[in-house]
Amino acid sequence: MSLDVAKGVSHHPREGGEWWRSGTIYQIYPRSFADANGDGMGDLAGITSRLESLATLGIDAIWLSPFYTSPQKDAGYDVADYCDVDELFGTLQDFDRMLERAHELGLKVLIDLVPNHTSDKHKWFQAAINSAPNSREREFYHFKEGRGENGELPPNNWVSMFGGPAWTRLTEKDGTPGQWYLHLFDSSQPDLNWANPEVQSAFEDILRFWLDRGVDGFRVDQPHAMAKAAGLPDHPDVERAGAGFIEGEPSPPMWFQEEVHPIFRRWREILNSYDGDRAMCGEAYVLPLSFMALWVRPDEFNQTFNFRFLDSEWKPETLFASINESFEAFDSVGAPSTWVLSNHDIIRHASRMGGLAGRPTASDGVGPGDPQPDRELGLRRARGATMFMLGLAGASYLYQGEELGLPEHTTLEPEFRQDPTFARTGGKRVGRDGCRVPLPWQAGLGAANGFNTTGKSWLPQPEIYREYARDQQDGIAGSTLELYKSALRIRRQLKLGEGSFAWLPQFTNERALGYRNGQILVIHNFGRDAMAMPAGEVILRSANGLDQQHIAADETVWIKL
Ligand code: NOJ
Repeated sequence: MSLDVAKGVSHHPREGGEWWRSGTIYQIYPRSFADANGDGMGDLAGITSRLESLATLGIDAIWLSPFYTSPQKDAGYDVADYCDVDELFGTLQDFDRMLERAHELGLKVLIDLVPNHTSDKHKWFQAAINSAPNSREREFYHFKEGRGENGELPPNNWVSMFGGPAWTRLTEKDGTPGQWYLHLFDSSQPDLNWANPEVQSAFEDILRFWLDRGVDGFRVDQPHAMAKAAGLPDHPDVERAGAGFIEGEPSPPMWFQEEVHPIFRRWREILNSYDGDRAMCGEAYVLPLSFMALWVRPDEFNQTFNFRFLDSEWKPETLFASINESFEAFDSVGAPSTWVLSNHDIIRHASRMGGLAGRPTASDGVGPGDPQPDRELGLRRARGATMFMLGLAGASYLYQGEELGLPEHTTLEPEFRQDPTFARTGGKRVGRDGCRVPLPWQAGLGAANGFNTTGKSWLPQPEIYREYARDQQDGIAGSTLELYKSALRIRRQLKLGEGSFAWLPQFTNERALGYRNGQILVIHNFGRDAMAMPAGEVILRSANGLDQQHIAADETVWIKL
């Protein structure tokens, strides 16, 4: 099989030097990054104390997953107060200190906005359930009468992303069964009614609250779910699609409805009314990318996560297609493509690439009863994949711990599982806890290897995390941490993020993929055998120890012309 390079895209640098077009954004999962008070849960003071190590890593920005007041039913993606910090993580003053320190170090800060749903403990939902059907308070959410003779059946056939029905029935104040409310996620995460102007204006105030404090922008959670088709009709194909959608088939009534776009245009106006390059990245799971591109038109989001790239199997033909599709789609609207390999919702790429362990999708997690990934193969490929990604023009996202080559915790016992997916599917999908385990900073410093000094940890680390601790890699030639540092340093020096893209025909086939970005050639060997190294100065390679004449299997090299 050969890849049709003639049909491949090319990409040229564009005008406009905003940081988000080319920056590297590092995702901090606050629960698991660093724990200053030793209670086993990461916190804002912990983040502040470790920011310098991120500046040294060479990233441009951080994105913090939610730290707001929350009952933590979905690890903080169930927000009870959008304008305060949960005491687990500290206080608003701790946030301000963290922001100030990040800015001193030259790091931008994006925070996570969760507009599709609130926690059931949010005052809006509490007011709604304490008010009568059809009241103003209930209009904040989607409350409906049930179907069936006595309203005993859910209002439609929608299912939750975490398994089970997307509706829960209320017991009214007089003890009788009442209306149902919609939740596309856990029953503790009721969906807001975005057709209600009061909801819209409340969120504009929330944006301003954080922009006034000085944040550089937002990562927006599930924006494609916010608007629902009027009347909430049945999903046309729930049997096949489950809670999701099938690409290329008629759009399901809960995802990517047209009505969301004016909302984001308004948000963009608000961001633009502030100084600096404030940015908005949407977690818009909208495919194909030509459709996603509509979300990053010049007056909407600045960027979206590139789920096509993230979901691509690590194979030349799928990557070739996904990179072509990415540049084509995003260039057509003048937006940067983003690139990402790991986040807090999927199996870490160092494990994914060592075999998906028989799990049907990466968000299902891996448990002790599953076939285990090959650690050595996974790390080798992950290092190659990261270097392949970091050579690409556009913005890149990194997930905390990947700079250590950290694998997924694949043997976490059921009693520790906290992801609602686990309970809602009766353990069939073990869920996402395995990629959320606290980071090892210092080998042997307590049971959590320097995550704190007490050894407490909301999820236990596996034994092997000790080997990956940051202090075991810092300054050690050949370590994954040093590889990331070098790649990010070169990326910045040579302005690769702002660069160009063209496939290298002689290295674009069933065994290799290669592209050129300015003066740099990036080549990845997908074959089982080493291949000949082309002429040029090798400035970085993902594998250790092979001779200078060859590119090892699973290796990426950067060559300067
Ligand atoms: C996407 C977030 O990344 C995920 O962690 C969360 O569970 C869902 N949205 C619901 O907020």
